[in-house]
Amino acid sequence: MQFLQYFAVFTQIIYGSDNHLNVTGSQIAATSVDSETATILPVDIESKIGVDFDITATTEVPLATNSIIFDNIDKTTDYLKKFTLPSLPYAYNALEPYISKQIMELHHTRHHQAYVDNLNAALQGHATAFQKADVKKQIELQQVIKFNGGGHINHSLFWANLSPAGTPAASPSAAPQLRDAIEERWGSYDTFKEKFSKALLGIQGSGWGWLVKDKNKGILSIETTKDQDPVIGDRIPIIGVDMWEHAYYIQYLNDKASYVEGVWNIINWETAETRFKNLTSLYL
Ligand SMILES: [Fe+2]
Repeated sequence: MQFLQYFAVFTQIIYGSDNHLNVTGSQIAATSVDSETATILPVDIESKIGVDFDITATTEVPLATNSIIFDNIDKTTDYLKKFTLPSLPYAYNALEPYISKQIMELHHTRHHQAYVDNLNAALQGHATAFQKADVKKQIELQQVIKFNGGGHINHSLFWANLSPAGTPAASPSAAPQLRDAIEERWGSYDTFKEKFSKALLGIQGSGWGWLVKDKNKGILSIETTKDQDPVIGDRIPIIGVDMWEHAYYIQYLNDKASYVEGVWNIINWETAETRFKNLTSLYL
């Protein structure tokens, strides 16, 4: 049991700091487990991890071996990344008349901020539950992380995905390679636009519509996700449209079709082209 407890702390730290651990000499008593009986022995930390290690200073330690366990480490969650609300690359009224200043301000400062705050709180709670080996609490928080983490990812992409109407970025000509791929896939830009719009209007309840490129197969597709489920894995979101009511209702009421028609005037094709060419989501 002792092994499991120490290993849990160790593993948590790995994930919490991107496979590296910032440790200070005062925090460390290096130990290893040599059998299933969980005998804990002091080890020579420098020889085990194979790096120069200054016991008096903070050192970034690559955690390449599962035989190293750090005992007496400060069991806080201070090492967790704190997500913050990204600034918009334009003014709140810049997308008018297609999305009003009021919607943009509420959407960004209230809705997106709430996803960020809830994500940070859930990650902290999950880390604490992990340290306590509280599996039920971890399972409970995974759904919260999925929802709010997805909300943060999706909205970060959405803001970068939009550009004021009339700007060069808002013209499909700003995405020549993507446009060629769209025409190859759907026959014409207009056909793609029609199918994408139909998919957006077909979403039941809250969700998102996406133009996605599969990293391995190189295929473009139109997809939808429910709630705040993000596009992840080898599928790269090229364009995403928020179809939650909070994205349009106070301006368009139940006229979703007009919102969708308006959005086509403010898609940022420059960022879409960059995502398409580099196969990177460019957020977070
Ligand atoms: Fe939203």
